[in-house]
Amino acid sequence: MRDITTDTITEAAQQSWAQAEDPRLRHVLQRLVHHLHAFVRDVEPSHAEWLAAAEFLWRCGRICDEKRNEFALLSDVLGVTSLVDLMNAAPGATIGSVLGPFYSDDSPTVPLGADLSKDNEGDVVLLTGIVRDIEGRPISGAIIDMWQTNAAGTYATQDPAQPDENLRCKQVCNADGRYAFTTVAPGPYTIPLDGPVGALVERTGRSPWRPAHFHFIVRADGHRSLVTELFFPDDPHVDSDAVFGVREPLVRAPRPVVQGEPLRVPLQRPPGRRLDFDFTLVPVTG
Ligand code: BEZ
Ligand code: FE
Repeated sequence: MRDITTDTITEAAQQSWAQAEDPRLRHVLQRLVHHLHAFVRDVEPSHAEWLAAAEFLWRCGRICDEKRNEFALLSDVLGVTSLVDLMNAAPGATIGSVLGPFYSDDSPTVPLGADLSKDNEGDVVLLTGIVRDIEGRPISGAIIDMWQTNAAGTYATQDPAQPDENLRCKQVCNADGRYAFTTVAPGPYTIPLDGPVGALVERTGRSPWRPAHFHFIVRADGHRSLVTELFFPDDPHVDSDAVFGVREPLVRAPRPVVQGEPLRVPLQRPPGRRLDFDFTLVPVTG
């Protein structure tokens, strides 16, 4: 390898991974070299620019800790997280959306009809619907795992001022596949702006906002778990989500509850509005 030139280096760098035993790893590394070299040939960075890029990544690494992954945020704002989500979408299932960094799997399991709104500011909204299989049959015992911000746009898992289990829950669907709980509408928030990714977004004048959303993971035995979100059509940031998570079928407006209308399950707290959303899960294959 003494004849390295701009004409031979890409092939040489690809070949250097050829002995990797794992065929998938070998393929991924060789394609990474191919595309990275093409990027560099296209952009023609100066030494100073390439050093600045390395320092940016170094700063990303420096700010990571147990709870924070700045590289995941970089993937989010570059649209890569959503691209991977969309490419792995299960045909026939409810469309998925980003998981984000604020999920915690220890949310309390609450009974059907429970109230999460408690002392939080905001109108009480009923969130309800049915989890179905691909044939449209309700899945009894499906599990809804939901987390959201308060009206000010902060999650309990990031805000010591909120009770630890605020505005998040797991719920086991009843025999009709139904979930139902009352809560408050979440607020929009910005991605974390105190790190290098936030600085880059601000420097370029891009919107750092995520529109308000509910997060869900829906699970059921024998079915592929679904990670998704629900958004509101009147949110000022719904068409400029910093992480590209909005999908048309996931944008829904709550409607006022009409006096005397059937609510199907007893509720701990009467809602002013309701948002009905059914989820469809596909079977695990293979
Ligand atoms: C979230 O929705 O929680 C989120 C997603 C991506 C980046 C930051 C936050
Ligand atoms: Fe979120």
